[in-house]
Amino acid sequence: MENGLVMAVSNGASGNWGSMPMPANDPNGTKQTDMQGLVRYMLYQAN
Ligand code: HEM
Repeated sequence: MENGLVMAVSNGASGNWGSMPMPANDPNGTKQTDMQGLVRYMLYQAN
């Protein structure tokens, strides 16, 4: 779950919530610690 969301936020995603794509937010993979922090924060808020 967490790893999949980190991949989606980092590389972008489409087709899960309609046709609008999310652009890559870490295309070069240089901010993986930040991406993981964002996803953990988001999951914490959701639970
Ligand atoms: C760091 C900033 C961002 C975070 C943490 C984030 C987080 C996420 C996550 C976790 C998902 C997957 C939801 C799921 O599969 O259940 C998602 C999907 C999406 N996001 Fe983002 N997002 C960010 C930036 C953006 C930006 C800048 C845009 C548009 C300009 C955007 C547009 C979308 C769209 C359209 C989807 C649905 C894509 C699909 O259908 O697969 N996001 N976002």
